[in-house]
Amino acid sequence: MLTTLIYRSQLNSSCKSFSLISLVEKARHSNAALDVTGILLFNGVDFLQILEGSEEVIETLFVKISQDKRHDSVVELMRDYGPRRRFENVGMLLFDLRIDTPKSVRDSVLRYSKLDNYLAAEDRVFKFIQRFIHQQKKAPGVSSFRPDKWRLAPEHAPFGKTINGLIDNQVCQFALQPIVEPTEGKISSLEALIRGNDGGSPERFFNAIDQDKVYEVDLLTKSYAFALAEKIGIGDHKIAINLLPMSLVNVPGAVDYLMDQILFHGLQPEQVVIEVTENEMISGFNQFNSAIKQLRAAGIGLAIDDFGSGYAGLSLLTRFQPDKLKIDREIVSNIHLSGPKQAIVKSIISCCTDLEIALVAEGIEKIEEWCWLESAGIKRFQGFLFARPKLNGVGEIHWPQYTNAAYLSD
Ligand SMILES: Cc1cc2nc3c(=O)[nH]c(=O)nc-3n(C[C@H](O)[C@H](O)[C@H](O)COP(=O)(O)O)c2cc1C
Repeated sequence: MLTTLIYRSQLNSSCKSFSLISLVEKARHSNAALDVTGILLFNGVDFLQILEGSEEVIETLFVKISQDKRHDSVVELMRDYGPRRRFENVGMLLFDLRIDTPKSVRDSVLRYSKLDNYLAAEDRVFKFIQRFIHQQKKAPGVSSFRPDKWRLAPEHAPFGKTINGLIDNQVCQFALQPIVEPTEGKISSLEALIRGNDGGSPERFFNAIDQDKVYEVDLLTKSYAFALAEKIGIGDHKIAINLLPMSLVNVPGAVDYLMDQILFHGLQPEQVVIEVTENEMISGFNQFNSAIKQLRAAGIGLAIDDFGSGYAGLSLLTRFQPDKLKIDREIVSNIHLSGPKQAIVKSIISCCTDLEIALVAEGIEKIEEWCWLESAGIKRFQGFLFARPKLNGVGEIHWPQYTNAAYLSD
């Protein structure tokens, strides 16, 4: 199937001996043999490349190009399918904005393409080209969060030891995972993740419960999370718990029960954040809304979990604004490589900034993901990169440190 792929990247400034002309010359020959067409734009700092060809060939070629040390920060912007090529007769043509004006580059791209002015105005590929031609050059080194400049150093969390004995008849246990503000070296909160008494997953625990007892059990289990927080001595740190919204609606006196348990375990309501997923929330929004009011009136915080994984998305925020929003792991995974993911996260950041909603990026596993998100403006993170969940306690936290060697070489 005919595929069009667009990516952007940055010239690797430490790559000294590099001839763009010979790169393009070689690429043209090799592309002709692979029946790949396209163009390469360069502005002295950034590249934009359009590649057209069969799906498999483009996939393999893009992997190879992504690993090329002559450029870095390779971000895929578009991968689409279509009936015909735009650059049918062009094996690989270079447009150099250091030499030609934006207008002449635009005109010659159009001349080489199969598009007339009218079609180009509507064409997504051409819009990417237009934007690149007119954008400001990004000076190298502008992004302060370079993955190669950071390393992670483990540190014991400032809490008591892991708890051994469970409370009598306790039906489940909790693993605690810190949400951190890495540049501040601060723990933002601890999320209590439910586990079976055999250490099994939440799904296994809830599947084993009589289905008409699910909401009652869901609510009851929170008292064990608060008990754990008390036993390990979380001080004035916050604790986040997951709750099915319908537990607040279906179990009589649910909010009072939560309040009693919070106070019984020496916590303040302001220290507690209830996390609900957007799908759970939207399915019974009107009923849940009255429970939310009671929680808010009591001082308990609310967070939307797995934001972006469900159907509601940004439209949910027109109906309800939480204190905190956790961006789903699917969206942040490999964000440093994906233009669409970056655009979506930027819009979430802008929206939450305007609405004064705190943002957390969850599921962070790679230092590159953290670096991109931190430089985009996110401050709070959760994921294996920083800390794994630990059963009945809080494990080591890996804090990022700027390496001295990197300072010297800058
Ligand atoms: C910005 C940029 C664009 C490139 N475009 C192509 C291309 O269109 N086709 C190609 O074969 N190689 C291209 N290359 C070079 C490849 O990364 C790689 O060096 C080349 O395919 C040779 O691979 P080989 O060592 O397996 O022969 C490009 C490299 C850079 C830095």
